[in-house]
Amino acid sequence: MMTEDIKKKIRDIVGPDNVLDSELDRFGYSYDSSFVPLVPANKPDLVVRPTTTDEVSQVMAIASEYEIPVTPRGAATGRTGGSIPVKGGISLALDRMTKIVELDERNMMVTAEAGIRTFDLYNACAAKGLFYPPDPASWKYSTIGGNVAENSGGMRAVKYGVTKNYVMGLEVVLADGSILRTGGKMIKNVTGYDLTSLFVGSEGTLGVITNVLLRLISMPKKRGTLQIMFRSLDDGCRMIHDMLQDGIVPAASEIMDDICLGVAARRRNIDLPDGAKSAVIIEIDGEDESSLESQTTRIANVARSCEALVFRAAASEKEADELWSIRRGMSSAVATLAPNRFSEDIPVPRDAFPEVVRRIKKIAQKYGFLIAVYGHAGDGNLHPSILCDISKPGEEEKVHHAIEEIFAASLSLGGTLSGEHGIGITKQPYFANAVGEVAVRTMKAVKAALDPKGILNPGKIWL
Ligand code: LAC
Ligand code: ZN
Repeated sequence: MMTEDIKKKIRDIVGPDNVLDSELDRFGYSYDSSFVPLVPANKPDLVVRPTTTDEVSQVMAIASEYEIPVTPRGAATGRTGGSIPVKGGISLALDRMTKIVELDERNMMVTAEAGIRTFDLYNACAAKGLFYPPDPASWKYSTIGGNVAENSGGMRAVKYGVTKNYVMGLEVVLADGSILRTGGKMIKNVTGYDLTSLFVGSEGTLGVITNVLLRLISMPKKRGTLQIMFRSLDDGCRMIHDMLQDGIVPAASEIMDDICLGVAARRRNIDLPDGAKSAVIIEIDGEDESSLESQTTRIANVARSCEALVFRAAASEKEADELWSIRRGMSSAVATLAPNRFSEDIPVPRDAFPEVVRRIKKIAQKYGFLIAVYGHAGDGNLHPSILCDISKPGEEEKVHHAIEEIFAASLSLGGTLSGEHGIGITKQPYFANAVGEVAVRTMKAVKAALDPKGILNPGKIWL
């Protein structure tokens, strides 16, 4: 229970300007980018915006003493409700902790505070010729701490992997306020349990990430973007599959179906070629022009063998940026097509991608919904979006069945529930089935050990 006395103690720690408790402010922290319906119960009692790890530690010590729920929050760009304070208490916003602590060029590593925007971190490294590859669709807004907490993916996962592949160490404030430092700049490190990995993807339920140490690689000297259109969604999926089988590994390879193409064309006033039913966007990179040329030739050959309707390389950086910004905006664009949208995030083994897409389109036919399909085809991670109107009688139940069938399709092809968005609130009903009873028990044991009072992001991951 949040009393005036506790509020005063927290104000004394972070300063009065960094504690918000007006109705409007609390409302502003009661939702995120997951489209979880707005309900008054999701308002935090207090929003706290610390600027140092020490402040986070002191706030957690108080929260622990009084058993106040704490929901850490970066930029609230998450898609499963991870930063929604469903049990009230404190919304702990890390967005004022934005410093780059150290850019270590010699070891090719960067240490940054959790609240820095992913894109700002990327640019700071790029200015020194260093590359931080993970690029979730929301990277212009998302924070690095949020990315680590969700183990975010992105477009470039095909060639470069996801957030966890770059995290070398963390500073984490534990539930009782103690400060844990994990990992380090050593490439090799088997000194005890891998605590760094434990916190990556833990969705704010095990500790508050305040600082991250990331490894970097050299920035590729050249980049190119290709846009390829097909007469069917299946041709587009087949092309990406054949390209990878051919040993071509682009930085990114994304697919969009005709629903996505239509919404993008309407919003951007673009004329689509007649008969275009899917588009593939590919990023290639390399050390010089000739490397890009040879990749382009090989990809063009595969596209031709899959009867591509259009094959073009972006003529300028501006054109490439435009294509990627269409893709990055797709989730929000698709959401405008119906009163409700349920967005999924299933990953399957790469070679199962064309089949899972076919099965999802069959599920759409069976239930009579539009299911827009787009996603990270090159790494087998798809975002099917069910477009519906749950105010219609019986619609919500049908949606639930359709989602169950989508997950069943993913599981039967060797996939799972979430590739990059986590479980949060929205995937909870399906979680136990996906991972099994022993995994749930093991995860709950870890949770109980690290957060015995259950104050860290309660109400997430499991029901
Ligand atoms: C995307 C987000 C939704 O890929 O993950 O657009
Ligand atoms: Zn995605």
